[in-house]
Amino acid sequence: MSIFDELTRLKDEVTSEIRGASTLEVLEETKIRVFGRKGGALTTILRGLGSLSAEERPEVGRQANEIKEFLEGLLAERQAELRGEALEGRMLEERIDVTLPGCWPPPGRIHLINQVIRQIKDIFRGLGFGVIRGPEVETDFYNFEALNIPADHPSREMWDSFFLREGLLLRTHTSPVQVRVMEASEPPVRIIVPGKCYRRDAVDATHFWEFHQVEGLLVDEGVTFADLKGTLEVFARALFGKRRRARFNPSYFPFTEPSAEVMVDCFLCEGAGCRMCKNSGWIEIMGCGMVHPRVLSRVGYDTERYTGYAFGMGVERIAMLSRGIDDIRLLFEGDDRFLRQF
Ligand code: PHE
Repeated sequence: MSIFDELTRLKDEVTSEIRGASTLEVLEETKIRVFGRKGGALTTILRGLGSLSAEERPEVGRQANEIKEFLEGLLAERQAELRGEALEGRMLEERIDVTLPGCWPPPGRIHLINQVIRQIKDIFRGLGFGVIRGPEVETDFYNFEALNIPADHPSREMWDSFFLREGLLLRTHTSPVQVRVMEASEPPVRIIVPGKCYRRDAVDATHFWEFHQVEGLLVDEGVTFADLKGTLEVFARALFGKRRRARFNPSYFPFTEPSAEVMVDCFLCEGAGCRMCKNSGWIEIMGCGMVHPRVLSRVGYDTERYTGYAFGMGVERIAMLSRGIDDIRLLFEGDDRFLRQF
């Protein structure tokens, strides 16, 4: 076969190969096979030109170059075509439908517990109380001793505790902050203390090892139980509705004397008796009392001059009562399906 025939055959073959290449990779293979410096079909033929006679060489050389240019042109064309197709395909694949609804992270919300704490704070701020916090890791002294609960006193059983090392424990109530505030300041004292507390309680629908309280403390000259009653009744109405009445049942706390439980007439049945109030018509919302003189004198307050009252309420209990929640655990599980209702 003459070089000329070889060239013509190669041209036809490669032309149809290039036209038929379905991907850029296949095309690249063809390119290497034809134009490759080492062993490329066309390259090999062109090298053979040297063995031609001086008369043949220019003509065959010209034709060879023509074919080379033709095939290179064809290759570039097909390459551009295939690239265009590939881009088209990617654009289709990655198409963004701008008419679809957007998706964005759901906005955060304030946890029901903090909503209720804010509500309580607002009410007491309106009554002139300041808001402070205290440590969750307490000493035995502040959690018990200073609150008139000596080590061997049976009333310690009211607060089953998580003890840490060296006389430290997780506070079982917010009452220790009463003592810390009185140590740090002189009367008049008028504060509330929201915060977390911990008790070694068995977990059930109304008990959890972690919970929140809001403590209240007011000490001044001439403070009486009547002030306590009036203040807490205003609070109960602000929280549970204008028609509410408050009742004070005798109770016992080592750091208040006298002590009482605050009952509010049931806002669900208006006192007639229902499931919420266990048919009594009344719901207990907190403990309170007049600050025990021993607590006052321990912080150096003159008990002849000053008297005061204190109260402490469970935030979870108030949240559950006011929102109709029947299991405290729901408040700690962090399940958004539950929480986003509030
Ligand atoms: N600290 C008490 C408790 O946790 C509640 C309380 C506070 C009672 C203040 C009286 C005065 O049970």
